[in-house]
Amino acid sequence: MNPLLSALRAAVGAANVLTEGDLSAYELDWRRRSHGKALAVVRPGTTEEVAAVVRACAAAGTPIVPQGGNTGMVVGSTPDASGREVVLSLTRMNRIRSVDPDNLTLTVDAGCVLQNVQQAAEDAGLFFPLSLAAEGSCTIGGNLATNAGGTQVVRYGNARELCLGLEVVTAQGEVWQGLSGLRKDNTGYDLRDLFIGSEGTLGVITGATLKLHPQPAATLTAWAAVPSMDAALTLLGLAHRHLGAGLTGFEVMGRFALSLVPRHFPQQRVPFLQESAYGVLLENSDQESEPHARALFEKLLEAAMEDGCVTDAVVAENISQARALWHIRESIPLAQAQEGLNIKHDISIPVSRIPAFCAETDALLQREIAGVRLVNFGHLGDGNLHYNVQAPEGGDMQAFLRDQEERVNALVFEQVRRFDGSISAEHGIGTLKAAKLPHHKSPVALGMMRALKKALDPQGILNPGRVLPLAD
Ligand code: FAD
Ligand code: MLT
Ligand code: ZN
Repeated sequence: MNPLLSALRAAVGAANVLTEGDLSAYELDWRRRSHGKALAVVRPGTTEEVAAVVRACAAAGTPIVPQGGNTGMVVGSTPDASGREVVLSLTRMNRIRSVDPDNLTLTVDAGCVLQNVQQAAEDAGLFFPLSLAAEGSCTIGGNLATNAGGTQVVRYGNARELCLGLEVVTAQGEVWQGLSGLRKDNTGYDLRDLFIGSEGTLGVITGATLKLHPQPAATLTAWAAVPSMDAALTLLGLAHRHLGAGLTGFEVMGRFALSLVPRHFPQQRVPFLQESAYGVLLENSDQESEPHARALFEKLLEAAMEDGCVTDAVVAENISQARALWHIRESIPLAQAQEGLNIKHDISIPVSRIPAFCAETDALLQREIAGVRLVNFGHLGDGNLHYNVQAPEGGDMQAFLRDQEERVNALVFEQVRRFDGSISAEHGIGTLKAAKLPHHKSPVALGMMRALKKALDPQGILNPGRVLPLAD
């Protein structure tokens, strides 16, 4: 018997150390880009058990892959093919620990599913704004480890802005108790912010204290048909002026991206699909009342129609209409997955330069890659586009990835560099982009990242090869 497996069984109980049967839920990533093989999948139920697992792996020099809901987009949460890595699944750690309504905070286990965190906030009469299409299965630990963005960033910020404190198991198997609910604490280096966005390479997040907000009095959703990305940007400027802090969502979707939704989910109807190059989903959250929110929205859309940046629009009459509009937006990644394997670019560009970026890069790709299909959608309010590439209609996806992925990436990432953007806005680096990172970070930045990794994980056992390339 492998002594490490015995130690893991002693730490978490034999039933929570999986080595046999179909482990693809843990070994295959959401996008089906990589199917690895784990030495074992270990499912601790408490922080102390996580610490014991890390200590056992550290003693054996065995790499650990922390995993939450396994919905990540960059192959960071699944094992490689070596059969040497232990997957540390946090999903049994799913307790809401405490709520402090006066402090506007909620403390949870890292394995809590995001939707359950949102519900716990709502049950306390408050609001946790982080929202993304994977919220029914992604975990708050994964959200923090990737510094997830989602659809409310324009008003509330990324996961980082929604977290006040963390509990972390270090690479040595010690517990750092940093579950503070303080909004001000300048006692030295900010360890919390170091772990947020580190994708499981510096420590294992086991708990978090989250920042809550008051619930809006009314939330309204609208869908606007816009003729171009330029027009979408004009609409964004108008929305900021008319709605101020009420603007909580601003999502743009290209016609081809939208057309995939009814193609794969025929029960869904997309407004103005044939009439406009882009659809924009706007959300207005108002602290006063629904009539006030509606009046503001109507004024905004009147001004936009007068300007010509919107050609048609609809404001949801009730919650179920609003949900149906959001459902279309959230179905795009699922429809894209149904369409087949694809190349994703999760990029950010200064908002003001997005129309020029799209005009140039669309033309470049169409010129250079025969039959390319662009699936362009995302969080325009944050300057974040999912500028994705699908193989030509009816083409062989595997062959397209094999022959064209490097070339497509090189073209898009060079454009991102020219436009002062980032090659990862919200999904992280994982293994998919690790080799690219050194070309997009300065030597000074990379040197500091390597020094931090070495200081916190000298054995290199936490998610090796993710974020920083192995040979680096
Ligand atoms: P996993 O996929 O399990 O892990 C992600 C990374 O975090 C891995 O590197 C893993 O090792 C590490 N990790 C996980 N848990 C821990 C932990 N407790 N401690 C330390 N490291 C850990 N992302 C966005 O930002 N915005 C979106 O709008 C968005 N929409 C999505 C829509 C769909 C349909 C899908 C499938 C994904 C979407 N994502 C989005 C990507 C994904 O949901 C997020 O990255 C999410 O934050 C990952 O959470 P998870 O629990 O699934 O993490
Ligand atoms: C989204 O905004 O829907 C996600 O980040 C998922 C994706 O990029 O496919
Ligand atoms: Zn996104």
